Order: sequence, then structure tokens, then C-alpha cells
Amino acid sequence: MQIWGNRWAAGRLFLALFAFGAGSAFAAESSLENWIKAQTDRSLDRVYQAISPRDGAPGSVMASPSRSNPNYYYHWVRDSALVMREVWAYRTLGLRSARNSLMDYALFSEKNQRTNNPSGNAYDYGVGEPKFNMNGSAYNEPWGRPQNDGPALRVLALLGLADDLMMGGQKEFVFKHLYAPEMPAHTVIKADLEFVSHHWQDTSFDLWEEVRGDHFYTRIAQWRALDEGADFAKRMGDPNAASFYKQQARAVMDSLDKFWSSSKNYLLATRNWTGGHDPSEKASQLDISVVLGVLHAGRSGSPFYVDDDRVIATAWELVQAFDYQYAINRDKKNDEGMPMGPGIGRYPEDHYDGQTTNSLGNPWFLATQGMAEYYLRLRGELKARGALNITPLSRPFFEALVRENLSGKRRLPATDPTYVAVLQALQDRSDAFIRRAKFHTGDGGHQSEQFNRVHGQMQGARDLTWSYASFLSLRRIREKNHDFQSPVRRRR
Ligand code: NOJ
Ligand code: NOJ
Repeated sequence: MQIWGNRWAAGRLFLALFAFGAGSAFAAESSLENWIKAQTDRSLDRVYQAISPRDGAPGSVMASPSRSNPNYYYHWVRDSALVMREVWAYRTLGLRSARNSLMDYALFSEKNQRTNNPSGNAYDYGVGEPKFNMNGSAYNEPWGRPQNDGPALRVLALLGLADDLMMGGQKEFVFKHLYAPEMPAHTVIKADLEFVSHHWQDTSFDLWEEVRGDHFYTRIAQWRALDEGADFAKRMGDPNAASFYKQQARAVMDSLDKFWSSSKNYLLATRNWTGGHDPSEKASQLDISVVLGVLHAGRSGSPFYVDDDRVIATAWELVQAFDYQYAINRDKKNDEGMPMGPGIGRYPEDHYDGQTTNSLGNPWFLATQGMAEYYLRLRGELKARGALNITPLSRPFFEALVRENLSGKRRLPATDPTYVAVLQALQDRSDAFIRRAKFHTGDGGHQSEQFNRVHGQMQGARDLTWSYASFLSLRRIREKNHDFQSPVRRRR
């Protein structure tokens, strides 16, 4: 409201000054800015359309409206958690609808936890079940289950609401449905934290639902859920649980070091491969899931955040691998002659084309937009730090970024021209990835799951809700990283 109005005014003033000084470069950039603004509105609309749809239970979130080829009309625990986090992050645009949606989602999640399913019984192994029918009943077909990132992401989606309700005088809802400091745990956040703290060492299927083992993505989500869950438990008067969750969080964090491969020089997606697809189907172990894990669960100042040189090395390896992998990436400029980054997929050996697995994988919107977000978050860290450290692991990334030989340079202060150039290049590269996503986005801002590696047309589940959530997350970070703010339409 008031704050937003001021931002709007400040943004317009800045845009006006910028347009005045920047001449023709502004015309091209302004079309990207306008697209981002419009795409934010459309993404928010489609996210809200995905929540509690007409023939779904209140609080269910459809992964996509597509009901055949492929059928994605289900409530996936992971997708919905990532979507609801964005709903909460954008709550200033409509606090009441955000709060109501989150409360419905909490009640739907409670129902999920109470439902026996093929992963196991309610409040037991069943907590790891990856997807439910939209009416809340169990999905009883064979599937890659359990997927233990789900409960961790659900905690992260609900903690903001829980704190808000505690402060806003709706404590009963919290104690009844979200967190009661008692055992057995039958409130959503507490039940998830109990499951995560006792089962993070179990193998489970990865976020791509293909491989059983220990996964970097799953583990970093579990770390963040336990770490923040512990702080919350303390606030809720549950100190013994809090210290147990903290202790387990530290153990999860320690286990992440093992994902580093000093022979490959990047972080591996999976260790202790025990089932699902054959290991030969992902020989590289190079996977965007590592970067997504950092975006979804990493924390500034902790290991494995965007500026950890192991993460930088992994991101750079991914960019190069996908650049090479997909024919569309030969085109490096859009119709206006502006640079486009490579479309990014899940992993180089991917065979899932959005419908069948005996095909060839493609770039995904959520991966390409995730990479754009990665570059921006790295910029934000370096800017906040006021210096750039270059290590042998991160040097190739930074050298490619500024096309400069940086050997001999180890710590660049904010006054160093190379430091300034790195910040600018990170922002430019991020925009280049956004232009790539924009280039393959359909009329009206539609984004499916994938875009074809050869001809660039969209394919896979249409209007994938997670694609829109990934755009909203990127745009939030971009807003913080830019010196001006682009306003978005307010909701109900
Ligand atoms: C559908 C899954 O959702 C997708 O991630 C996977 O690649 C295919 N099934 C094949 O397992
Ligand atoms: C397939 C993806 O691999 C998986 O991560 C996702 O949860 C489902 N599709 C639903 O979008």
C-alpha cells in the first residue's frame, strides 16, 4: 500500500532519469523490463488459479492443468510447497488472499499427513509420499517413492504463516494445526520436523522422481527445514525438540561435504545410489538440482550458498554442459540482437521429454529461470560483501564472466575495476538467461515444463505451476538486486 506506492513513485523517477541518460540502449532493455512486469502479474494469476481449483479440495495445488499426456493434475508435495512459498513472499500484494490460501494449504497438508498411502502409514513413513489426488485421497499407482524433500519444503512453506499467525493473534490455528509442542506429533510442521529429523539418513527418490539414494537437493532442504524449524520450536516453547532439531541440522550440514567430487570438481547430485533408474543413465552426476537446492534452501553466510566456490564451480559446469547439449543454444541473440544465455535442463543425459522417458530431455523454464536467479543472488552476495574472493575453483567462472585472465588475483576490493565489472556482468548474464526464457514463452506468457532442444517450441505439461513459481522467485531477487523497482498490480 503506502510502501508500495512510494516504491512505485521512486521507480518511475529512476526510470525517467535512466531513460533520459541512456538513449537507445534503453529501448531494448525497456522491453525486457516490461515483459518482466507483465510476466509477474500473469505468473501470480496462474499460481492463484492452481490453488484450490474448482474440482480440487481447498488448499490443493495442481502441478499443471494438464490431465493427459502427461497427467499432472495432482497435488505434488514439492511443487506445491515451492508455489506456496512464493504466494507468501508476495503477500504484500494481497495479504488476505495469501493468508487464506496458506491456511487452506496447511489444512490440506494435514489431511495428506493423516492419509495412509503407498509410502507408509499416516504420521509414519507415509509422510514421505510425493503426490496426492486433488481431492486429497492417496495416489495408489506405482511411483518413485518416497521423496523426502517434500516434508522439508512443506516446513519452509509454512513457517512464515505460523509466525504471522502467532503475532497476529490467531494462535489457536497454530496450536491446533501447525505446531503443538507435544508427542505424538499430529500438527503439520511438528510432524514434518519429526519425520525429517529421524529419517534424513534414509535413502529416498530424488526431486526428479527417478533415482533412489542420498541427494544433495533433498539434504540441503532438510538442513534448512531443521535449522529454521529448531528456532521456531524454541519460540513455541518446545526447547528439547528444538535442540534435537538443531543437532540433526548440524549433522545434515556435515553430510553435505561428501557430495563434493574432487575428481570431477563439482557437487554430485546423488550418492549411495540404491534404486530407480540405472546409474549409467546419469554418469556425469551433474544436475541443476544442486543449484536449485542452493536457491530453495541455501542461506547467506552458511556453507553451500551461492558464493561457495564449490557451488560456483558446479553452476559453471552446468552452464557449459547445457550450452553444448541443446541445438537451440547455438543462437545467442534474440530478435532484437540482445544476448541470450543457454537454455538449461535438468541434467545432460536426461531422457524425459515431458511425456515419455525413451526420448531426449530438453531445457526447462524452471531450470533456466533458476540459473538467472543464481547469477543475481551471487551478485547480491558479492555486493553485500564489498569484495570478491577468487579461488582456484571459482576462477574459471569469473574469467569467463569478464573475459579476463585473473591468475594472480585473489581478493579484489570494491574499488577494483574487475570487481565492478564482475557485478555488472553477473547482472547482464542473468538478463541473458531471462531473455532465453522469454524467447520460448508462449503468447500470453504461458510457460509449460520444457521447450524443445531443437526447435524451441514448448512441450510437456502446459502451464506448469512450478515454472511460474520459479519466475516469481527470480523476479523477487531481481527486484532486490536492481537499483529501481518495477511495480506489480495489487491483488484483491
Ligand atoms: C515422471 C517424472 O515426474 C519425471 O521426472 C521422470 O523423468 C519420468 N516420470 C520418468 O521417470
Ligand atoms: C516432474 C518433475 O521431475 C518433478 O520434479 C515434479 O515434481 C513433477 N514433474 C510435477 O511437476
